[in-house]
Amino acid sequence: MEINNQIQIFFLTNLPSLLVFLCCAEEISRAEFPDGFLFGTATSAYQIEGAFLEDGKTLSNWDVFSHIPGKIERGENGDVAVDHYHRYLEDIELMHSLGVNAYRFSISWARVLPRGRFGSINPAGVEFYNKIIDCLLLKGIEPFVTISHHDIPQELEHGYGGFLSPLVQDDFVLFAKTCFENYGDRVKYWTTFNEPNIYADMGYIRGVYPPGHCLEPYHNCSAGNSEREPLLVVHNMLISHAKAAYIYRERYQLKQGGSIGVVVHAFMYEPISDQECDREAASRALAFNIAWVLDPLLNGDYPPEMYRLLGENMPKFSPDELKKIKGSIDFIGINHYSSLYAENCSYSPSKLGCQAIKGFVYTTGERDGVPIGEETAIPRFYVVPSGLEKLIDYLKTRYNNKPIFVTENGLSQMDQPEERNRVLLNDTKRVEYHKGYLASLAQAIRKGADVRGYFVWSLLDNFEWTNGYSIRFGLYYVDYKTLCRIPKFSSKWYTSFLSYNSQRNRNGIIRRSPMNSAVISLKAGKMEI
Ligand SMILES: *[C@@H]1O[C@H](CO)[C@@H](O)[C@H](O)[C@H]1NC(C)=O
Ligand SMILES: *[C@@H]1O[C@H](CO)[C@@H](O)[C@H](O)[C@H]1NC(C)=O
Ligand SMILES: *[C@@H]1O[C@H](CO)[C@@H](O)[C@H](O)[C@H]1NC(C)=O
Repeated sequence: MEINNQIQIFFLTNLPSLLVFLCCAEEISRAEFPDGFLFGTATSAYQIEGAFLEDGKTLSNWDVFSHIPGKIERGENGDVAVDHYHRYLEDIELMHSLGVNAYRFSISWARVLPRGRFGSINPAGVEFYNKIIDCLLLKGIEPFVTISHHDIPQELEHGYGGFLSPLVQDDFVLFAKTCFENYGDRVKYWTTFNEPNIYADMGYIRGVYPPGHCLEPYHNCSAGNSEREPLLVVHNMLISHAKAAYIYRERYQLKQGGSIGVVVHAFMYEPISDQECDREAASRALAFNIAWVLDPLLNGDYPPEMYRLLGENMPKFSPDELKKIKGSIDFIGINHYSSLYAENCSYSPSKLGCQAIKGFVYTTGERDGVPIGEETAIPRFYVVPSGLEKLIDYLKTRYNNKPIFVTENGLSQMDQPEERNRVLLNDTKRVEYHKGYLASLAQAIRKGADVRGYFVWSLLDNFEWTNGYSIRFGLYYVDYKTLCRIPKFSSKWYTSFLSYNSQRNRNGIIRRSPMNSAVISLKAGKMEI
């Protein structure tokens, strides 16, 4: 009895620490990631800024597309989005309170160069990003900048067909140069493009993003060629990147000391069966989706898997283009959300992937009716944490352990107003999602992969392209009536993950705020805060 009491008292007084021990002994910890590892959140201009016609900005392809009836769920658009343009100080304060040391965001082309090279620089647009960059640096947050994230001034789209035309290369180079020139003294991480493969797939194969091109039977479009145009679009994006990166290295990199990369959308693919043909299909899926973009940038040509099936359809690089493109990235950015099964197939107009442009690979999230992982709010986005480790193994092998940043990873939830408090704010699923993927990432790093950063998509609920505001990815909930930001459980988890044991320096001494005292911008005198 006496002993029992003592045991009882022991458990009662020690319950909190016991619980912490029991629940968290296996928890992923920041200490498992290398020194200097970037932990951040990610956003993109059109999805958060709003102010779509303010201070000299003109219309972008997305402004125009989202206003066409029927293109976006519930008829929504990014005119206001989450009004980040006016609320950036508050949003940077949210990031500061999370304790991130990096922030990935993109620059609106139509804000900085509203008419491309056919007009002049918009000083108010340039100034907006100056303020963001300065404010981030004051808070010890590294800006990680995407030059183009799906948006392009409509004038360039309308005038010559945007990325379908080689004319876009000069426009992009001018835009990139404008960014290096104005921001490069403070920005050390650049990516030219976000997801060229998705830009081509959604805009020119399926026709569901601007300019809405496709060829039946893929979708019902008024223009397009789903077998040919996506190849041209990625080709022009790759050459645009190569020319911009060439100039960056020639004129800016030495002086400014930054690095430059490209972000590719990267699912992992598993063979649906053990048969040789399906294993080949899985490797074709990786080649046709990921290596399509990365092979030229690192190896200097399109993947052999694509040449084998597409032959003469593959666009050619000139000798000068080849010289500039090979080795033109310092790091690989991957947006990783899901894994799918891959199955060898012959041509079928209606089965997703069973066309030459997709390598005749049928991709699906189910095998014998069993999903590959837990389903999320977006079809074909399943929770498969082990897929990240496998994807990184693949990239490590194919690209000789090139440095990698995970530039997006996150969980979507369907907007359900009646479940706001119970599910959307108490987003335990999102926390489990990130813990799982971070553990998988840590495992890849332990095996030797050179991974240097991880960005949660997204800081805030935002405009999710064709899904409008019906899908929520944020660590912060946005009430679209008031535009108030409300912390979700996941924001508290990320804060505690980032603060736990993180400030250990080389001598094992723990400091409380690691990055926050760092880099104070030279331009700080200009700050408004
Ligand atoms: C395809 O689009 C055309 C023109 O917009 C429309 O008339 C037709 O009904 C559509 N067909 C289908 C199957 O949606
Ligand atoms: C894949 O399927 C196609 C069409 O059924 C077939 O011709 C081809 O041989 C298959 N590939 C392999 C590697 O078995
Ligand atoms: C949050 O959800 C979890 C289950 O997902 C539940 O156990 C917990 O009680 C909820 N917390 C609050 C404050 O509602």
